[in-house]
Amino acid sequence: MADITVRKIRFTFEDPIDLDASEAELGEMLPALALSMTMPYLEPYLIRTMKVALKAITEPALVEDVRRFCQQEGHHYRNHALFNDQIRGQFDAAIADGLRGIEAAMEADYQRFSHEKSRRFNVAYAEGFEAMTCAGALAAAEHGAFDGAGLPGGEIWAWHMAEEIEHRTVAFDVFQHLVGSYPYRILAGAWAQWHYVSYIRRFALCMARGLGLKRKQTKTSPMHRKALRRYLHTWSPRYDPAKIEVPAGVQELLAKYSALAEGAAS
Ligand SMILES: [Fe+2]
Ligand SMILES: [Fe+2]
Repeated sequence: MADITVRKIRFTFEDPIDLDASEAELGEMLPALALSMTMPYLEPYLIRTMKVALKAITEPALVEDVRRFCQQEGHHYRNHALFNDQIRGQFDAAIADGLRGIEAAMEADYQRFSHEKSRRFNVAYAEGFEAMTCAGALAAAEHGAFDGAGLPGGEIWAWHMAEEIEHRTVAFDVFQHLVGSYPYRILAGAWAQWHYVSYIRRFALCMARGLGLKRKQTKTSPMHRKALRRYLHTWSPRYDPAKIEVPAGVQELLAKYSALAEGAAS
């Protein structure tokens, strides 16, 4: 069984988002805001997927991992929904409506996947998403960008990224247990990543339009290159998130948020 702690935390989002920042700073900020906008739709879909998977899982330890995964993701998206109210409120009504339209389209896609796609597809989507975001979280942890300093939303980023690393084995183990096909993991996972990232782009472009930004900033940093290397490793037939060494500082962060949480169950 993985070592996963459910931490019920609710953050408040009172510090104003500085949308008068430089174009370079906004170029860093918008993908993070876009990521947050996806969470109240993506994470409930992951939870629905795992609840269907639970009915077929025959390993008690994995059942418990999946339960904790679902509870962690539930706390994640509830905090992001609060943050997203603040994000929408920073823009004029037309852009806020534009964001709501993209949110509705994303929710419709994920409801359709839950109702019409196979368990095999949905489990592969979950693993594709989790592998990609864990790669990003690990790279951020290694580069000390984990505290979300400079990003609006404050501690939501450190807490969320640390828990993504903490539950990194669950979707992979469920996929291996119920599907187990390497080619399908790559094909369906890559499609899932394309689908998910296309929504990140739509949200970011909508916000960029609201800010009058002409084009998206595409500067790559050593952290982005590290994230790309980690992401490419997820395509290996030998990829196994259980074998990933957790970067320094992640356990300390998890301990910090355990202390902050209401009624943590470990
Ligand atoms: Fe999450
Ligand atoms: Fe996750």
